[in-house]
Amino acid sequence: MCGIVGYTGDELAKDILINGLKRLEYRGYDSAGVALEDATGGVTHIDVIRRVGKVAGLESELAGVDATATCGIGHTRWATHGRPSMANAHPHTSCDGRIAIVHNGIIENFAELREELAQRGHTFTSDTDTEVFAHLIEEAYYGRPAGVAAGTTAGAPAALGCHDLMAAVREACTHVVGAYGLAAVCADEPGVIAVARKDSPIVIGRGARGSYVASDVIALIDATRDVVVLEDGQFARLAPEGITYTDAEGTPIEPAVTHIDWDIDMAEKGGYPDFMLKEICEQPRVVRDTLVGRMTGGELTIDELGLSLEELNLIDRVYVIACGTSYHAGLIAKNLIEMWARIPCEVEAASEFRYRNPIITPSTLVVAVSQSGETADTLAAIRDARIKGAKVFGITNVVGSPVARESDGVIYTKANKEIAVASTKSFIGQVVSLTLLALLLAQVKYRLTVGQVRMLFRELGDTAEQIQWILDTQKDAIHEAALACKDAHSALFVGRGMGAAIANEGALKLKEISYLHAEAYAAGEMKHGPIALIDPGFPVIAIATKSPVYDKTVSNLKECEARGAKIVVVATEGDEDIAQIADHVIYIPPVRDAFSAITATVPLQLLAREVALMRGCDVDQPRNLAKSVTVE
Ligand code: M6R
Repeated sequence: MCGIVGYTGDELAKDILINGLKRLEYRGYDSAGVALEDATGGVTHIDVIRRVGKVAGLESELAGVDATATCGIGHTRWATHGRPSMANAHPHTSCDGRIAIVHNGIIENFAELREELAQRGHTFTSDTDTEVFAHLIEEAYYGRPAGVAAGTTAGAPAALGCHDLMAAVREACTHVVGAYGLAAVCADEPGVIAVARKDSPIVIGRGARGSYVASDVIALIDATRDVVVLEDGQFARLAPEGITYTDAEGTPIEPAVTHIDWDIDMAEKGGYPDFMLKEICEQPRVVRDTLVGRMTGGELTIDELGLSLEELNLIDRVYVIACGTSYHAGLIAKNLIEMWARIPCEVEAASEFRYRNPIITPSTLVVAVSQSGETADTLAAIRDARIKGAKVFGITNVVGSPVARESDGVIYTKANKEIAVASTKSFIGQVVSLTLLALLLAQVKYRLTVGQVRMLFRELGDTAEQIQWILDTQKDAIHEAALACKDAHSALFVGRGMGAAIANEGALKLKEISYLHAEAYAAGEMKHGPIALIDPGFPVIAIATKSPVYDKTVSNLKECEARGAKIVVVATEGDEDIAQIADHVIYIPPVRDAFSAITATVPLQLLAREVALMRGCDVDQPRNLAKSVTVE
C-alpha cells in the first residue's frame, strides 16, 4: 500500500514526482503530497504540499506553484492509521519542518514511540504511525533535548546530533518495529535523499539527469532500466552526483543491479478506456506466455521449482495459501491437484493459516500464490510454513518480489504489470501456472502418463483462442446481462464443481468494483438457506457449462427460476436448452471441465466491469482498496 517516490538531480523535481505518483496511484489514492526543497535568500527550506484524494488534485494544486526545486519526495496514501485527511497525508515533518519524510508500511510500536517523543517535547500534527519516524530522525540529526525520556529518569542528558541525514535515518530505524520503505529529506543537506527499507519494496535508479527512488520500478522506468531492488536492512543515500549504499552499520555495500526488460507501453492503457479492460483483453497472451518453454522435448518442465522430481514424488499434502483473487485461483488448483495427482490439497486464506496450527511435515508442499508478491498475510504465512518445515513454492507476477525471494522455488505468471486494482489477467496466469503444477505432480506420481500430460497441455494452450472468442463475440450478451443486474442490491453467483470455484471469483469481481453486494454459493447449497433471498428480479448468475454436474446445476437453477430470480447463465456454446430457464445467456466455447475456470471467468470479469461502469464506478481504482496489501 502507499506509493513513494523521490528525485534529486538537475531537473524540476515537481514534474518528476507527479509523474511518478500517477504511476504509483494503484497502490493507494486516499491522499497525495510532495515535499520540495527550495531556497529563499540562499537558505534552503522544505515546502510541503498535500491534498486529500487522488494525485490529479495534487497536480492541479502544484500547477499554480512556482517550485524550482530539483530535489523532493512524494507519496500517494492508502490509509491505515488515521482517516484520509490533510493532516494525515504524507509527507510528514519534524517539529521545525526542516526534515520531511514519506513512508510505506506500518510502525507497530508507534504508540510507545509517540508517547516517548511527546514527553521529550515533540509536537505531533497527525494520527499516523509514520510521523514518529520524522521526529526520531530529527532527534538523531539535531540531538535529543535534555528532559524526561520514557524508561529513563527525569532530567536525562541531552544527546548530540550526528548532522548526517543518512546516519540519522539509520539510527531512527533502530527504534522502529515494523515495516518501512522510507525516504527522507533535510533542509540542512540540500539535494540528499536518505532511503531505508524493511519489508516494504524500494527500488532505486540512476538516470542521465539524476537519482531516483520509488516503491515500484514503474515510477522510474522512463529514467532508467537498471535498478537496485533494495533488500531489507539496506540503506541508500541519493544525491545529484550519485548514489551510495550501506548496511545497518553504515558499511558501504554494492547491491546487485537488475535490468528491466519490459516496456512502459505495457503499463499504459494502449487505447483502451481503462486498465481493467486492457488487462482482460491481454488474457490470451498471458495463457500463451505462461506456457512458453514448459513443454521441452515432449516433457513438462518447471525448472524453477527448487525441488527434485524425487522430492516432488514424496509430497503427500499440499496447502495453497493466498488472499482474495489469488485464493480463488487456489480453489481451482485444489480440484485439479486432487483430481489428477490424488494428493490431498487444502486452500487457506493466508491471513488464517498462520494463526492456526496446520499439519505440516517435511513432505508438505505449501504453494503461496500472490500477484504482487508482497501481500503481508501471504508473506507471514510463507515464513511460518518454512519454520514448520514445509517446502514453499511461490506463484507470483512480480520478479524479485518478497514472495519470490522467500520461497524455495517460484513460477512467474507472465501477466506483466497489472495496474487495475481488480485482478484479472494475473488470475488467469495463476490458474494456468497452478494447472501446470497439478500436471507435474500427477506425472511424477505416475497418476497421468506422459502422453496424457502432453494432450492436456495442448488443450490448456487452446484456452488462449477460446478466451479470444469470448472477447470477440460475447460483448452484446454481457452488456444485456449487465443491464439486468445494475440496479440490484445484491446478487448470487452459483455453480457446482469447478463452477462453484469460479462463482467465488465472479462475486468478488462484482462487489469490489461495482459496490453491489454479491455472494458465491455452491448451487446445491441454495436450498439450505440462500434461496430465501430470492424474490422476483433477484439476479442469480450461474456457471452452467457442460460438465458432469451440468444437469444438477440446471435443476438448482430451476428452483431459482420458480421463485422469480433473474437468471444469467455462462453456458457452453451450442447449449440452446439453457435459454429456457435463463433470462440471459453468455456463451463460452466447449472446454474440458478442468480448464473451464480459464474461460468461464472471463465473461464474469467483463460483466462486473459493465455493471460497475453503468453504476458510475471507477473500475481501475475502486474505493477503499489498494493493489498491493502490505498490511496484515
Ligand atoms: O497480490 P496478491 O495476489 O497477493 O493480492 C491478494 C488480494 O489482495 C487481491 O487478489 C485482491 O483480492 C484483488 N483486489 C482482487 O481483485
